[in-house]
Amino acid sequence: MVGAMKIVRSPKAMQRLAKEWRGAGVRVGFVPTMGFLHAGHVSLMEVARRRVGPKGIVVVSIYVNPTQFAPTEDLSKYPRDFARDRQLCTEAGVDVIFAPLDSDMYAGRGEGRYSTYVVEESLGRPMEGASRPTHFRGVTTVVAKLFNVVLPDVAVFGAKDWQQAAVIRRMVNDLNFPLQMVVAPTRREKDGLAMSSRNTYLNESERKQATVLIRSIRAVKARVASAGRGGLAAEVLKSEVAAMVAQEPAARLDYVEFFDGETLEAVAEVRRGAHMALAVFMGRTRLIDNGRV
Ligand code: PAJ
Repeated sequence: MVGAMKIVRSPKAMQRLAKEWRGAGVRVGFVPTMGFLHAGHVSLMEVARRRVGPKGIVVVSIYVNPTQFAPTEDLSKYPRDFARDRQLCTEAGVDVIFAPLDSDMYAGRGEGRYSTYVVEESLGRPMEGASRPTHFRGVTTVVAKLFNVVLPDVAVFGAKDWQQAAVIRRMVNDLNFPLQMVVAPTRREKDGLAMSSRNTYLNESERKQATVLIRSIRAVKARVASAGRGGLAAEVLKSEVAAMVAQEPAARLDYVEFFDGETLEAVAEVRRGAHMALAVFMGRTRLIDNGRV
């Protein structure tokens, strides 16, 4: 679509627009985000544009979804900068920003008048689900709602949140959402740190130490490559990663897991092509990363 970028606040108005596009046979690509956009988010917008073509519509949602944060987590201090986000979206050729209010997305939630949630019951259990028990319920609920409002043909997610993408893919299949899921590669800083809105919480020293996530993925990859066919015991690799993380004074390992990248099933022997994910607290900031080893 050519023309000025639109900002839509109301879910009703967004759905009305989406139905018009559907009716006119216009393809819609969708990138859900929580804002404070960075080059990782922008790369997803570019993928969405490529998928729908110059005549298609690219919608980006910017919504810090309260239901995916636990009461103890960083909801109120989650970074926000709408003016900057808007600029980045304009530069990326986005057609519509959908930025709803809590009072429209979850009307009556505080008064017990919101009571419907979408729960994926298997892939979301380990790793992020074990550390943040209500997190994926919030993610699947809001993404299902966003899909129902934006009615996309293609939805683009980042490999940075590997388990999230797997959970959403499962939801899309299980609940017959009529759309195609695309997962785009993780964008990284020069030193390998995965881009994340939460990186802005890091002080200078934590920022330096934060490369321990990608360094440990690369170290495991090198170990697995030289181990040959038999692979290496996941338990051994886990303690090696724990030792690497322990070298950084501000770091505390939350989890490291080895699994099949498709099914997310844990593997006892880690061979080439297996997937690794880890979560590390750097001071008070929790960072995650993952990769094929
Ligand atoms: P958010 O953390 O803003 O991320 C939005 C999308 O950007 C997700 O699909 C995420 O995987 C992707 N992303 C984040 N960092 C990336 C990077 N460095 N490279 C590539 N892609 C990256 O994930 C969420 O928001 C929320 O849970 C959401 C799906 C919007 C539901 O509220």
